[in-house]
Amino acid sequence: MSQLQEFCFTPSEFAKLARIDKEVLPILEDQGLIETFRRKSGNVDRKMITLESAQAYFHRVRDAKFQGMTFEPEIGRRGDQPLTDVAAGPQVPILAAEEVQKILDRLMDTPVAHPPHHKKQMFYNVKGGTGKSTLTAQYVMRASMMGYRVLAIDLDAQGHLTLNLDVLDGHELPTIYDVLINDLPIQDAIISVSPGLDLVPASLGLCNIEIPLNSKPRREYRLAEALERVQDQYDLIVTDTNPAASILNNSMLVAADLVNVVCATSPLSFHGMSLVLSTIQQMEKEFRRQLALRIIPNMYDNREVISQEVLGELRSQFSEYCTKTVVNRCADLNEATKRRSTVWSVNARGTAANDIDALTEELLFT
Ligand SMILES: Nc1ncnc2c1ncn2[C@@H]1O[C@H](COP(=O)(O)OP(=O)(O)OP(=O)(O)O)[C@@H](O)[C@H]1O
Ligand SMILES: [Mg+2]
Repeated sequence: MSQLQEFCFTPSEFAKLARIDKEVLPILEDQGLIETFRRKSGNVDRKMITLESAQAYFHRVRDAKFQGMTFEPEIGRRGDQPLTDVAAGPQVPILAAEEVQKILDRLMDTPVAHPPHHKKQMFYNVKGGTGKSTLTAQYVMRASMMGYRVLAIDLDAQGHLTLNLDVLDGHELPTIYDVLINDLPIQDAIISVSPGLDLVPASLGLCNIEIPLNSKPRREYRLAEALERVQDQYDLIVTDTNPAASILNNSMLVAADLVNVVCATSPLSFHGMSLVLSTIQQMEKEFRRQLALRIIPNMYDNREVISQEVLGELRSQFSEYCTKTVVNRCADLNEATKRRSTVWSVNARGTAANDIDALTEELLFT
């Protein structure tokens, strides 16, 4: 099990994730919609929200279960405990039931109340080292914190997504090889990483998939067909691919709704973009598909002229595809990779955490 399940939010972090005002939190707590606990760190006693409680909150927002709730005519007391009691935490405003209902109704208008715009997504670039696995890992962890049921799939024999998600025994587990070549039901290749996040891991054996896959009937459709068998169990399916124009990657181009091309803001990465885009267009033509496309500028360094130039070129040549979010080069992402954890555990207020937050919202809701 990954370290992610130990994750807790401060009230501000949770409010930011849920897109609500921090002031609403005591009301949600009073209504039993979130649970908090107190954690002592040094001399400071802080209110925290567990991952499980945050996910349960998002599920309720999406299920619109508030509508059936009944409220006390006046709130402001939790059980027999008057909320002026200091130990009970910040005072809950005294609100009429209709006002509480109005606040809850507003929660259902936030983007997090909706399913992802594109269910099957892939991170892709035939060029290596642009940040595909790093961004995939942080994205799937963030989406699962928001209560989405996420399936991550590692299609790279290097197994970097598998490692980033803190699965260390990946080499002993079945991979997509077993599904596509040995007809293993995909359900049997799925492992649980943390609550709400599942994974089809990868290991070195995946290196040998191209030759047997090449001779399989309907080779490019096999992955799409396997995913169809489990897609109803998930809100989001995200794949990390290998840095090549391989049959395995092409299979995901046949299965995906959205391709997220990760482009480092370096001249060579920019140079490879025409090849990447023409590969995607060729696949669309051959398999009569229309894919949504995003180009994510990564490893941007605003102190480097070359980084600024490449970003400018990306935005002028591919303006319709470029994400608004630019992921800056930031040591926190390397640190998160090293610790096999999230950027929020490294530094929840840092540049990398902000960039991944913005990217997650953009890839989920636009
Ligand atoms: N925005 C960033 N800031 C700093 N380091 C980053 C950033 N994005 C990625 N990295 C680092 O760059 C290295 C390569 O990233 P990653 O392995 O995700 O690339 P990749 O495209 O998946 O590579 P491959 O093509 O080999 O699969 C890693 O060490 C990762 O921590
Ligand atoms: Mg990778």
